[in-house]
Amino acid sequence: MSRAYNFSAGPATLPLEVLQQIQNDLVDYKGTGMSVMEMSHRGKDYPTIHAEAKATFKELCGIGDDYEVVFIQGGGSQQFAMIPMNFLGAGQVADYANQGTWSGKALKEAQLIASLRGATVNTIANCAKDIPTRMPREDEWKFSDNAAYTHICTNETISGAQLKKIPQVKGPLIADMSSDILGIDRDFNKFDMFYAGAQKNLGPAGMAVVAIKKELAAKGAAQIPTMFKYSTHVDNDSLYNTPPTFAIYVFGEVMKWVKKMGKANLFALNDAKAKKIYDVIDSTEFYKGTALPEFRSNMNVTFRLGSEELEKKFVDEAKKLGMSSLKGHRSVGGIRATIYNAFPMEGVDALVQFMKDFEKANG
Ligand SMILES: Cc1ncc(COP(=O)(O)O)c(C=O)c1O
Repeated sequence: MSRAYNFSAGPATLPLEVLQQIQNDLVDYKGTGMSVMEMSHRGKDYPTIHAEAKATFKELCGIGDDYEVVFIQGGGSQQFAMIPMNFLGAGQVADYANQGTWSGKALKEAQLIASLRGATVNTIANCAKDIPTRMPREDEWKFSDNAAYTHICTNETISGAQLKKIPQVKGPLIADMSSDILGIDRDFNKFDMFYAGAQKNLGPAGMAVVAIKKELAAKGAAQIPTMFKYSTHVDNDSLYNTPPTFAIYVFGEVMKWVKKMGKANLFALNDAKAKKIYDVIDSTEFYKGTALPEFRSNMNVTFRLGSEELEKKFVDEAKKLGMSSLKGHRSVGGIRATIYNAFPMEGVDALVQFMKDFEKANG
């Protein structure tokens, strides 16, 4: 067996032992005579998998029964639409940070709903196009007095910028945590809702994992299609229709792995992994970090070389050494090394050695 060091930003590398557990369970899950993929979501065995996955996630996030965890298809992107559909009513204002590509897309969806309903979207900070890439500084936020909710993104996956300090807001705070959920220490109780496309730190693609205060879900708009209401998913334990059962099962296995590893250990390991790469970047003019140092992500490390040709050579040569998906997002170019929870330290060491060797040969 040969496993690549997979630096993809999502779908991303999963813990090897989780993959092996899945392989072991694949055709006969714990003596049930069938795969989780084949089980009825309302049968005898699946409900335990569903309940355990939710419970472990809630425990890891340190959130109580005032929150519900729901699984919704359509990834992070569908959340961009569902949030204003549910919570931005006629005459109301929603506060949005424009911090990069993903929060920019969320903002655009809110503007669409606002234009249909006679609502307003207020941009509370705008650093989406800044180079070096960054997050809003504490003194830049311009909140409205009466926002129906505030939307932020904790980690911009493409630019490699991460919000280290969560701003204090008056109304409900909603965060896209797709690319750093459970990868950095956060107080999840500060958020009325947080969500993540699963395919990064949580499991396979195919759903968003959404934690939402029940109180907030109940306030969602009534006149929208059933499947787009948070209350539908909350009131039916994500079983209103057939949920992505296999993705939920794998998510549950990944959550068990995070629990076994220990959150604090993982956070420290993530910081140590990122530091090794940033240290190489800072030791030379050959590599140029893309994000301002104070906002550098511990999940997506972005940098540039002197020319696009050199960047292509870097990516191609790394690939030959078993390091895949180092090419930056197609919209920005450069190099991006994604090192989520499941990415091993050995892979970081291999990259660091390669960066030094590549500089020697091409610097
Ligand atoms: C921060 C962030 N939000 C949202 C998304 C969109 O997620 P999806 O592809 O699941 O719709 C991504 C995808 O990479 C992301 O990185």
